[in-house]
Amino acid sequence: MVDEALARSFEGIGADYDRYRPGFPSSAADAIVPHRVSAALDLGAGTGKFTEHLTGRADRIIAVEPSAAMIDVLRDKLPGVEALEGSAELIPVEDASVDVVSVAQAFHWFDRVRACAEIARVLRSEGTLGLLWNRSDPACGWDHSASRVVHPAVGEADETTSTAEELPGFRFDRFESFRWVERIKRGDYLARWSTVSAYLIADSSTKAAMTAAIERILDADAETSGLDTFDLPHLTDVFLYTRA
Ligand SMILES: C[S@@+](CC[C@H](N)C(=O)[O-])C[C@H]1O[C@@H](n2cnc3c(N)ncnc32)[C@H](O)[C@@H]1O
Repeated sequence: MVDEALARSFEGIGADYDRYRPGFPSSAADAIVPHRVSAALDLGAGTGKFTEHLTGRADRIIAVEPSAAMIDVLRDKLPGVEALEGSAELIPVEDASVDVVSVAQAFHWFDRVRACAEIARVLRSEGTLGLLWNRSDPACGWDHSASRVVHPAVGEADETTSTAEELPGFRFDRFESFRWVERIKRGDYLARWSTVSAYLIADSSTKAAMTAAIERILDADAETSGLDTFDLPHLTDVFLYTRA
């Protein structure tokens, strides 16, 4: 069951999300769109952090996103993309019109059954659905600890294993994971956590406590203590499905 308050937490941010959130490695886009296609749709596109990787990989690129604040940033950044307000449960795109649907960091917000029916409707036969998520590298102790501050309910198993779910109307093909490293400023790392849904919906004292706890983690760890800039490893998990 999707938590509506969390799912709608992105309605108010756009520029901050775009500025502070990590992007994606192009190897993840290579896995989802290995050859140029005629049309690709990025669903729950946000400010276009994955959409931009579709450039040069499809003749027609469509982005669908419910938050006006997010899609306005995407329109400014990627004027060649058809940017449409809409949702995964009601995709404003014609039947059998796209070869690839990508969903970056957003599939968990969708009503799965309705979204899968809509994605299957807009995909051409044998089209690809690529779901991807960035996650903390469990080998990076300080980032793992910061993640537990903001997402205390996430269990160890959720963070270290990647299991493909069965999706109605789709055949699971394969899983790939890509490790990459981002050089990040301490201030930007702290600001990034303020764009996460669990932080966005928290009250001001909980927000202050989260930020203070992450500051203490950075001050205590030898890899980050006293540094203005440090290396942050990421894992990008990609789940590939074919329209059955
Ligand atoms: C964490 S952001 C990811 C944005 C972008 N794909 C990225 O990777 O930067 C999640 C996005 O999903 C969108 N979203 C939430 N519920 C949705 C729904 N039912 N259908 C489509 N998008 C939805 C949010 O508005 C938000 O832009």
